[in-house]
Amino acid sequence: MPDTALTDARTTPAAVWTKLEGLKGEELAAWRIADLPNRPTAEERNLKEPFPFGWFAVCYSDELAPGEVKAVRYFAREMVVWRGEDMKARVLDAYCRHLGAHMGHGGRVNGSDLECPFHAWRYNERGGVTEIPYSRIVPPQAKRENCVRAWPVVERNGFVYVWHHPDNIPPLFEVDSYPEVGSPGWTPFRKFEWRVFSSLGDMHDNGQDLAHFFYVHRTAVFPRAETFIEGHRMRSITRAKLGTPRGEVDGEIVSDNSSPGQGCVRFKGISETLLVSAITPIEKDEVHVRFAFTQPQSEADGPMGGLARALIRDIAKQLDQDKIIWDRLRHESEPLICDGDGPVPMARERYAQFLSTAEFERWRGKTRRFETKARN
Ligand code: FES
Ligand SMILES: [Fe+2]
Repeated sequence: MPDTALTDARTTPAAVWTKLEGLKGEELAAWRIADLPNRPTAEERNLKEPFPFGWFAVCYSDELAPGEVKAVRYFAREMVVWRGEDMKARVLDAYCRHLGAHMGHGGRVNGSDLECPFHAWRYNERGGVTEIPYSRIVPPQAKRENCVRAWPVVERNGFVYVWHHPDNIPPLFEVDSYPEVGSPGWTPFRKFEWRVFSSLGDMHDNGQDLAHFFYVHRTAVFPRAETFIEGHRMRSITRAKLGTPRGEVDGEIVSDNSSPGQGCVRFKGISETLLVSAITPIEKDEVHVRFAFTQPQSEADGPMGGLARALIRDIAKQLDQDKIIWDRLRHESEPLICDGDGPVPMARERYAQFLSTAEFERWRGKTRRFETKARN
């Protein structure tokens, strides 16, 4: 990238920022999840890639009380989430196999099972019917597992995750866990959410798309980053000198992505921060993004608390800026890539392992490392 372009661009605010001007507080929160009417179809935007497999959040743990039933929609499917009286979270497809009622609307919990609101058939977590209160026998077909599709569920890091695989292949790896979450001395989550009208694949490119950091986020320097891919995991380490009221400090950002929907980022230097990110596709052209932040209580409530909060605001702002681009982009299957772009092709290759089990097997156990140089 020629230096002149950088100099010129630095004199003006990034173009996307003008769209966000004046938005703050509740208005900004509402904008983040608002519909975007009259947008081109997913086909026109070439958003037709299958949903990847992996672990994906369907709700926060603390937003599902014992005995509560929730309707959710992800992977272009209606689903029902419930927490049994035994505290365990469970997820099934929403439509009852009897006469098709949506069990997320009016369904209720009976012990650990889910009871359909239409004729009270009861389902267990394996998607089999355990009881029909008005019938002497349960039809054998209804008793079988996955009579209604059951989703593998793991509750961890303050989230309820499901395993999604388009061919219903059981989990190929585990959900990573982040010990800071819920630990004494760490703040409760500060939660942010967005609906992004894009595909998970295009969002996955973002971390490796170095040039956009300057043009969209106005990062002064492209910092040096090292990225390691080990099997399904991808870790990126970015180090940079950061200016603070106390002088220059060594800043470090470590991003650990387990699969495209599940990851975390640890920020060190200004204020220690853990960001748990949970990104779940809703439709081919719509994704639900949840960012949950936790910080050491001593820093969040201490004299540097203002800085700690500003860091969180800044990270959320970056997503706002990206959203303006993502909401409208067309997926380029064969992008024209140039020299300063960063390892976008590598990011795409890594993402592809979550689209086919054969590709995943090819990657299993392999380690790759690539490095980007600082530019300014
Ligand atoms: S439709 Fe669910 S019990 Fe009849
Ligand atoms: Fe970005």
